[in-house]
Amino acid sequence: MFQTRSLLKTVTSAFFIATLSHAALFPESLNISIQSENMMHTLKWRPLQEACCTVNYTVQYQGEFEYMQNDSWLIEHSCYEIVQTECDLTLALSSDSDYNIRVAARCDDSTLWTQLPNTFNRRDTVLLVPNMDVTPRGRQIEVNFSELQKHISINLHIWKKGDEHKAISKEITDKKSHHDAWLGGGTYCLKADAILDIINKTTSTDTHCVLIQEPLRLIPLYVGVAVALTLAVALILGLITPRFSLWLRKSMHNKEPLPNALVSRSVFLFLKVYVQKIRHCFHYKVLFNSIVVNKYAIFRHSILHLCSGTGKG
Ligand SMILES: *[C@@H]1O[C@H](CO)[C@@H](O)[C@H](O)[C@H]1NC(C)=O
Ligand SMILES: *[C@@H]1O[C@H](CO)[C@@H](O)[C@H](O)[C@H]1NC(C)=O
Ligand SMILES: *[C@@H]1O[C@H](CO)[C@@H](O)[C@H](O)[C@H]1NC(C)=O
Ligand SMILES: *[C@@H]1O[C@H](CO)[C@@H](O)[C@H](O)[C@H]1NC(C)=O
Ligand SMILES: *[C@@H]1O[C@H](CO)[C@@H](O)[C@H](O)[C@H]1NC(C)=O
Repeated sequence: MFQTRSLLKTVTSAFFIATLSHAALFPESLNISIQSENMMHTLKWRPLQEACCTVNYTVQYQGEFEYMQNDSWLIEHSCYEIVQTECDLTLALSSDSDYNIRVAARCDDSTLWTQLPNTFNRRDTVLLVPNMDVTPRGRQIEVNFSELQKHISINLHIWKKGDEHKAISKEITDKKSHHDAWLGGGTYCLKADAILDIINKTTSTDTHCVLIQEPLRLIPLYVGVAVALTLAVALILGLITPRFSLWLRKSMHNKEPLPNALVSRSVFLFLKVYVQKIRHCFHYKVLFNSIVVNKYAIFRHSILHLCSGTGKG
């Protein structure tokens, strides 16, 4: 029993020494690279090829400040002794500084350091062209962005084909938005700029053009005719009704109505007063009080109001 154990111990120690010397003999690079798109930075490296019992990686970085001060390194705690071969450094590298970055690969008892050949600055980030879809929706244009990011602003430019210098620009805040074809039917073209203010970078989509159908001319025509007919009917009814009702009352109850001449006269006076803006309000006030019946009280009220407005009259 003891023998088996000690034998096992010897074998494993031999294995450890072998791998150690192997690691020491063939140090290899992890081939580190950093991918940065839209201000999101991801460090990647190749897995260690050595035969290790356990292998894990730790990422460190230093900005200009740490470098100048005492050449110290900061550990990215989310990437401390990890087994994955990539690390999100978005938050760590968010300052405007040139960073040195390195990875420590721990293979059993040995550690292999590999440094990124060049420094990284957030200015190196690649601003991706936004993914934009443009679809005609009746008399509107629907614009769809696959993704919006808080730190990237999007400006949409829309113009009628051939009139690019008259383009209107809008800031986009929602993934999906609708825009009027304000110049009627025809071909409209759209282009979006993505702007990363923090590093003053801009990128633009291709121009997308869509055809917006000319609205049917028949519909406004029908509407126009309908409105005209309604107005005509209303006008005729309006003209007929007072006389008709007068006639009705006269013939059915035989009551004394307001003489037509008086009605016309009061309306005429009202208009005259308005046109002349009343120089002698008092005169008209007296006149109106004496001649106008209840039905036309609104005219009298207007006149009185006008007079009090003009003051001394
Ligand atoms: C190192 O990485 C770069 C980019 O990730 C890749 O193009 C290249 O082939 C890699 N080299 C090796 C030896 O793996
Ligand atoms: C470097 O400076 C930092 C901050 O002042 C300090 O915490 C660290 O111990 C220093 N390292 C060395 C090696 O002096
Ligand atoms: C990383 O590897 C080292 C050496 O192999 C080991 O001592 C350490 O426990 C490992 N860490 C984790 C979290 O597995
Ligand atoms: C528009 O966006 C929605 C998600 O908001 C997506 O499901 C849809 O497929 C998009 N339309 C087009 C035409 O890309
Ligand atoms: C931003 O970039 C434009 C040209 O791309 C340049 O004219 C402008 O001066 C820059 N602004 C700043 C604040 O760097």
